[in-house]
Amino acid sequence: MGHWSRSPCLDEPLAAQAEAVLRNASMRLGDEVVGTMAACDPDMAALNYRECFVRDFAVSAAAFLAVGETEVVRSFLLTVARLRPDQASSSIPPAAGLMPASFTVQRAADEEGLGEVVADYGQRAIGRVAPVDSALWWLLILRAYQRASGDAEFAREPEIAAAVERVFEFYLRPQFEMLPSLLVPDGSSMIDRRMGVYGHPLDLQVLFFAALRAGLELLEPSPMRQRVFERLAALGRHLRKDYWLDRARVETIRRYPVEEFGVLQQNPWNLHPDAIPVWTMAWLAEGGGYFAGNLGPARLDVRFFALGNLLAVSSGLATPAHTQALFELVEHHRRDLVHATGVKLTYPPLEERDWYTLTGSDQKNVPWSYHNAGTWPMLLWPLASAARIAGRHELARDVVARAATRLAGDDWPEYYDGPFGGLIGRRSRLRQTWTVAATLAAAALLADDDDMDPFAFEHDEALERAIDEVEPDEVGRIA
Ligand code: GLC
Repeated sequence: MGHWSRSPCLDEPLAAQAEAVLRNASMRLGDEVVGTMAACDPDMAALNYRECFVRDFAVSAAAFLAVGETEVVRSFLLTVARLRPDQASSSIPPAAGLMPASFTVQRAADEEGLGEVVADYGQRAIGRVAPVDSALWWLLILRAYQRASGDAEFAREPEIAAAVERVFEFYLRPQFEMLPSLLVPDGSSMIDRRMGVYGHPLDLQVLFFAALRAGLELLEPSPMRQRVFERLAALGRHLRKDYWLDRARVETIRRYPVEEFGVLQQNPWNLHPDAIPVWTMAWLAEGGGYFAGNLGPARLDVRFFALGNLLAVSSGLATPAHTQALFELVEHHRRDLVHATGVKLTYPPLEERDWYTLTGSDQKNVPWSYHNAGTWPMLLWPLASAARIAGRHELARDVVARAATRLAGDDWPEYYDGPFGGLIGRRSRLRQTWTVAATLAAAALLADDDDMDPFAFEHDEALERAIDEVEPDEVGRIA
């Protein structure tokens, strides 16, 4: 463990420049750093970018933990665990177990004392979106902190243990559901706007899978831990079987019967074969595979969502065979997916009528911009983590090294526009913290395979066996 500049992807001056931007984003409560602001753009209106977002801090945590800076991560975890929704600020109080999208420290200029931590559970957020992913990220940060620091006692401290319990109570509660996946509203994760990502979006399902795996490590043996294990096995089986897309799977779906009733169906979601777009057939005919973006009644969203697919590798949702197929796909379609500025968040964009209807005519999410097939530097971090597991270090090193120079030259933009990610995003912040943190974290991950990736998961034989067990009602169902 050492400094970020030990990596072949980052020279000393670049690492120093990035570090200065990251440290400048520190959010303080008294003397203590408890988080990082999302962006410190000197020119653009801050809106909520001066807040510390839980999901963005995961990337900062990865950068800090890579160089042994565990204290700030611990402070962040405690600060978030202590937050409770202000009952008065919304008409329906957010559920206990929901964690905020972001928080900030408020302090009047003439005020003595530490200041007050104020959180946003969606009651102030643009579009009033619910941050379903926050608590899942918080669990992953907690586990990563524990692995990197060796501080196993921390998760047993009453405030932390109670927060872990609250989260699982909430996320495992029964709902209007027939599936082990999480049913969520639109815009409830990194894509925090309408983008046709309601229902069972991949990004959240993979985060849920990873957080459940974290739960197995964080919880003492108990009925709750047993519930976590059972949900995890069912979720893993469902995602591997029903979300995975490759040429063989597309061949099968293209020949699905429809309107089946009963338990032993070939086509349980009543997918209509003609709904598979031509580009998907062309893409997959060349080999490789990936996890689809969403699945529900008559709905298979075949868009490629990078965060979910890359985290699938780090979380162990992707088997070694899936992992190789995914990177084969990335190699085949590198021009579309991986650029000198980062990785495409989604591909392809929603265009024309689809864009108009599914985004509500969102001007920030026009085709090839922002969440709608924009290129995101923060994805360098999950890319590096997944590439290490896949043994594709060269690909990731090449991308991260080229990106580091470009991003520093552009003053660390939030995202890029265009089919090949070549233009700074039209409404992109500069000095975006997770852009900087992802560059540092990715460079550190690619420096030395002997350094553990605290966010990655190793093979778990008991879990694999449970995932492979066939459920009684699935016997006879044709894949
Ligand atoms: C935007 C992004 C969201 C991110 C936030 C702060 O709202 O959509 O994913 O957490 O900015 O960077």
